Amino acid sequence: MFAALTVFLEVLLVGISIAFVILSFHWYFMVVYKLDNAGWARAPHAQQKNGTGSWADRSPLHDAACYGRVLALKTLLDQGACANLSTIDSVTPLHEACLGGHAVCAKMLISAGAQVNARNIDGSTPLCDACSRGSVSCINLLLSHGAEVNPSLITASPLHEAVLRGHQECVDILIENGARIEHTDCHHGTPLHVACVRGHVDCAKSLLLAGANPNATKNHETPLHYAAQNNYTAVIQVLVEHGANITALNQNGKRALHLTAEDSEARQLLFYVEGHVESLKQLCRLTIRQSVGAGRLEYLSSLKLPDLMLNFLCHR
Ligand SMILES: *[C@@H]1O[C@H](CO)[C@@H](O)[C@H](O)[C@H]1NC(C)=O
Ligand SMILES: *[C@@H]1O[C@H](CO)[C@@H](O)[C@H](O)[C@H]1NC(C)=O
Ligand SMILES: *[C@@H]1O[C@H](CO)[C@@H](O)[C@H](O)[C@H]1NC(C)=O
Ligand SMILES: *[C@@H]1O[C@H](CO)[C@@H](O)[C@H](O)[C@H]1NC(C)=O
Ligand SMILES: *[C@@H]1O[C@H](CO)[C@@H](O)[C@H](O)[C@H]1NC(C)=O
Repeated sequence: MFAALTVFLEVLLVGISIAFVILSFHWYFMVVYKLDNAGWARAPHAQQKNGTGSWADRSPLHDAACYGRVLALKTLLDQGACANLSTIDSVTPLHEACLGGHAVCAKMLISAGAQVNARNIDGSTPLCDACSRGSVSCINLLLSHGAEVNPSLITASPLHEAVLRGHQECVDILIENGARIEHTDCHHGTPLHVACVRGHVDCAKSLLLAGANPNATKNHETPLHYAAQNNYTAVIQVLVEHGANITALNQNGKRALHLTAEDSEARQLLFYVEGHVESLKQLCRLTIRQSVGAGRLEYLSSLKLPDLMLNFLCHR
């Protein structure tokens, strides 16, 4: 009887020990896993992240900026981390904060002395990243701290970045702040080309209203060629309204109409436009806008004209 009880107690003890060991392991992995997710327990660079975050030499400051961890960022800066710290590819924490659209982090970095116009390996500035993200608050913050609206770049300008992703509000802010609307990037062409390739009709409107040249060419391709090819009828309409040359030829000697798909709405539209003479009032609007000139269209609304005419002139 006594022996049976001893064996029973021993089995119970072993059982409890095993359970304890299993629980310990479980607890250990939970903690490490959680810390790891928070980016602290393991070296942050061991994590593979998308976009600019995949570089092996990112600092905890980059990580905090990238994910908008305000408290972590503040702690690191208070501990004396350098706000200008950059990766081999010259990506700064400010680039990361802007790409993530984290205006509070961006502000803290700028207050800590981060370079507002820092260039990464592609030449992109934090403003390019804020435009790519479509973060109005980051853009306004950067502009109020002296960010260049037209950084010398052979690649995508901040305006190109905003148009690429269809962020019309950002496009308007950039134009108001003097972004060059005809800046040509060897890969994309003008911002209007980008809007027409992507079918961002709102961005195309903003650019054309600000006086973008509808006949700009990139290897002889006009914005209309791209819109026609992609069957973006709303974009075609806007381009025609702003005086695009419908007979312009691309490098293969094709008009926009030739590039439309059979039976597409774009073909019907261009067929109609080619076969009709524009109205006199449309021709007057184009002539007046062209005489005023691209850089001065904003003054149109100060002309002493009846509202009806003014609204028509300003495409309202
Ligand atoms: C990385 O990109 C892949 C697709 O390319 C996506 O499924 C994944 O969610 C992204 N991860 C992060 C952390 O953004
Ligand atoms: C960052 O770089 C700029 C320009 O080189 C400099 O003025 C600023 O003091 C630097 N900030 C820090 C925190 O080192
Ligand atoms: C574009 O081409 C058309 C010809 O179809 C012309 O009337 C218009 O003035 C041109 N616009 C510009 C800004 O060059
Ligand atoms: C419109 O395109 C045609 C054909 O390429 C060209 O002959 C004409 O000069 C262009 N018009 C303008 C104003 O660019
Ligand atoms: C062209 O776009 C219109 C909408 O604008 C759509 O209804 C039509 O199916 C499209 N046609 C082709 C051939 O893609």
